[in-house]
Amino acid sequence: METAQLDFLGELRRTHTCGELRASNTGQRALLMGWVHRRRDLGGVIFIHLRDRDGVTQAVFHADTGEALHKKAEMLGSEYVVAVEGTVAKRTPDTVNTNLGTGEVELVAEKLWILNESRTPPFPMEENVDVKEDARLKYRYVDLRRPHMQRNVMLRSQVSFAVREFLYGQGFLEIETPFMTRSTPEGARDYLVPSRVQQGSFYALPQSPQIFKQLLMVSGYEKYFQIVRCFRDEDLRADRQPEFTQIDLEMSFPQQERVYEVIEPMLQRVFEVAGYKVDSPFPRLTYAQAMRSYGIDKPDLRLPPFHVLDGEFPDLGLTFPPVAIHIPKTGALSSKERNELKEFGKERGLRVYDDLKKLDAKLVEQARSVSGAAPDDLLVLAGWPGAPQGHRPEETFYQACGQLRLYLAQKYNDRHKLLDPKTFKLLWVVDFPMFEWDDEEKRWNAAHHPFTSVHDEDIEKLTSDPARCRAKSYDVVLNGVELGSGSIRIHRRDIQAKVFAALGFSDDEAKRRFGFLLEALEYGAPPHGGIALGLDRLVMILAGETSIREVIPFPKTARGTDLMCDAPSPVPERQLRELGIRLLAPGGKP
Ligand code: AMO
Repeated sequence: METAQLDFLGELRRTHTCGELRASNTGQRALLMGWVHRRRDLGGVIFIHLRDRDGVTQAVFHADTGEALHKKAEMLGSEYVVAVEGTVAKRTPDTVNTNLGTGEVELVAEKLWILNESRTPPFPMEENVDVKEDARLKYRYVDLRRPHMQRNVMLRSQVSFAVREFLYGQGFLEIETPFMTRSTPEGARDYLVPSRVQQGSFYALPQSPQIFKQLLMVSGYEKYFQIVRCFRDEDLRADRQPEFTQIDLEMSFPQQERVYEVIEPMLQRVFEVAGYKVDSPFPRLTYAQAMRSYGIDKPDLRLPPFHVLDGEFPDLGLTFPPVAIHIPKTGALSSKERNELKEFGKERGLRVYDDLKKLDAKLVEQARSVSGAAPDDLLVLAGWPGAPQGHRPEETFYQACGQLRLYLAQKYNDRHKLLDPKTFKLLWVVDFPMFEWDDEEKRWNAAHHPFTSVHDEDIEKLTSDPARCRAKSYDVVLNGVELGSGSIRIHRRDIQAKVFAALGFSDDEAKRRFGFLLEALEYGAPPHGGIALGLDRLVMILAGETSIREVIPFPKTARGTDLMCDAPSPVPERQLRELGIRLLAPGGKP
């Protein structure tokens, strides 16, 4: 096949996008530009599906329009970049393509410019073609042309715009904070950037703008927001990336309610942009209630809760009263399925009672009535036969029950279909514990971050009973995913010092790591609080995707690599020398 002679763009200008033409444009002249999505050659007639981000239009080249034009159209290959000029014609009823927005018309081509060729694409551009993720990420610029990725990326842009528009309307200021900074404690490892000018010193990329947004409140900006990149070196999962984006905001003088009053209508607006409606106010559960009813701090409300049974059950020999787990419309399980269920429970320390006939009738009656299980629902009981574990031992048991509930729900979704990606259940989980016990380090860690306020009535427990201290913190949860997290902050130096002490920081360590923040609290820091929402997770759920990689234009693999740019990559010795860095050999030797 001849290689095409390429044309210049010159002064060519498109008149319409490829998604725009309708029957009402019939008879008009149009000049479209885009990619050759598909070409069908029927000898006398060549059909081209011309694609741009707005849609697809059929252009038709008739042999009788001129031999030169027809020959040129014959050269077109998949993903060639072209401009086509012609007249809009109505299609006959039997040739209307109802799959295309422009399907009632076609462009009868009179001129064709080939602006660029393309190698054969590494995978087809079609929707619903399964392509290995490695290939998609290596050729991401091609993958991003595929219609579902274009929809996701455009949705993301629309969501960002809606958020900006909403927050500007509420009097928030968009203020940038540095990327080259000091460590911000959000529970992950930092990405470090070596300084050339001050060898041996490192910047840390921010895990979040937490400290800066608090400082902006000290500086009197009152309402701040930013759609901002954050960096965390942590184990990656479907909903975690090493760099991800937060919708981050902070307000002065708020109670928790004031934060909800911003976030609920903001999310309503975002859902509206994506074509959905969600109700406000969102339901609220305390952390303790969430654990006792769902065994997790991010409950999926598309499914019913479990129920802790009331009373004493000495015959069962359990450490805590048993829990009734109820999955609607799932029916009875086969003996193989029951064995799998028991095995799943056992691995998590649970004793699973899958055959209710073998249990005391009164107990079963109670389980049926509290759960409201219908006859065709699946109902199982779970108990904890082992010794209590951890500082909030009943939570360890509820967590295992929560895992069992989700296991059943996910495994049998094809029977009950409750985990429908287009059903959206939002809620607030509030009053988290202030501290989590770190069994490896044998000390308390901040459950949210160390700048979170303790409940006024729990201040006294900071040192005497840290396990029972509640924080003024809140998460917004969507379909079992933690969408966002925030808190009312500590604005007083004396209380911040007490919390650092409860976390086991010596005065020196607290000063070394956060001295500037402690000092700022001495210069008229107002009461303040805020929240950050994961933009990637939000768009993922709105787009009906199950991985945030589907809504991030250039994501990393699960191993943190960028297959397209081949990053991270070694750097020349000279560059390391300039930074005063010498690498250890793989064994750790210099
Ligand atoms: P937190 O650490 O809970 O809070 O983060 C807030 C939200 O950011 C999203 N998120 C992530 N998304 C993708 N990949 C990751 N690795 C990742 N890590 C977090 C989640 C999460 O709910 N400074 C506080 C907020 C505040 O107190 O105002 C903070 O960063 O959706």
